[in-house]
Amino acid sequence: MSMPTIFVSHGSPTLILEDVPARAFLASLGRQLPRPKAIVAVSAHWDTDVPAVSTAHKPATIHDFYGFPEALYRLRYEAPGAPELAALCTRLNHLAMTLGEAVEEKRRLAARAVSLQDIERKEIARELHDEFGPYLFALRAHVGAVMRLAESPAPAADALRKHGNAILEQVNELQQLTRRILEKLRPVGLAELGLREALGALLRLWNESHPEVSIETVISPSLGETGETADLTIYRVVQEALTNVFRHAEATEINVSIAPAKPPSGSQDGCGYALVRVCDNGRGFRPDHKFGLGLSGMRERLLALGGALNVASGEHGVTLEAMVPMGAP
Ligand SMILES: Nc1ncnc2c1ncn2[C@@H]1O[C@H](COP(=O)(O)OP(=O)(O)OP(=O)(O)O)[C@@H](O)[C@H]1O
Ligand SMILES: [Mg+2]
Repeated sequence: MSMPTIFVSHGSPTLILEDVPARAFLASLGRQLPRPKAIVAVSAHWDTDVPAVSTAHKPATIHDFYGFPEALYRLRYEAPGAPELAALCTRLNHLAMTLGEAVEEKRRLAARAVSLQDIERKEIARELHDEFGPYLFALRAHVGAVMRLAESPAPAADALRKHGNAILEQVNELQQLTRRILEKLRPVGLAELGLREALGALLRLWNESHPEVSIETVISPSLGETGETADLTIYRVVQEALTNVFRHAEATEINVSIAPAKPPSGSQDGCGYALVRVCDNGRGFRPDHKFGLGLSGMRERLLALGGALNVASGEHGVTLEAMVPMGAP
């Protein structure tokens, strides 16, 4: 049965003690209205971090005001409570809390992503400053010397050649440095060639520099379209995992596999996932190892996208597994 809509103004709490028309009206209203199954009271007087529902079976009367006649404080409004609704409310409370935690976790991740970006920017700024600076300085010195030689009526060919060679060397170094920095900013060829080709090129580079280590790669044909963000993330995961293996593992074999995966339990966004697994047969984590920028950056990035990272070290080396959501913006 639907109840009528009634507006009851705030009034003064002493209304209940006074013989006034407003009191008589409210009392008669109580007698006329059908008895409700439950009353929901929405209050802004109760401070909680997230919207919460009280589950008290018999809520106590709280007098949160001062300076009124004593008789008012003796009045109690006995509300019977609704146990079945209370159970429902407990579930609602839990949901609200989980939601609150998820919002907080998202905020924390966003802040962490910004600080990681800052760290990366600082790193790039440092490289530009510390590494470009000296090369440019040396180049200027050699060009200055060449200019001075050009002033003389018969420039010494040997000296010119020496400075020319030095200039070439510096330019080569600068080219490699530029490539390294560009690679950090955005993997070369990923957008142009696609994930498979770009990964192929990355693996070929490692193969050429470390032919003694065998790298086996399986990219599942059923992986399908992954999307730009997922491509970049998968590439970064493989890049960091391989760099770690070559830096820390002393492995002779590496297996890289990328395949579609079932969404993790609890995920409701309906998007597909790719499981990136990199295993090595190296010596595993040292007992005193600590996550550096590489693994923590990767973990934060994956969490921010709704994915996950697992790294396990055993007798037979390290296995890194990354769940990468596909089709994320
Ligand atoms: N495949 C591996 N085998 C053995 N140890 C590893 C492996 N991968 C990582 N580690 C250990 O975990 C640590 C953390 O790795 P992480 O990539 O976070 O940092 P890093 O490689 O030391 O530095 P960077 O921030 O430049 O990546 C490494 O220092 C190393 O001790
Ligand atoms: Mg690393």
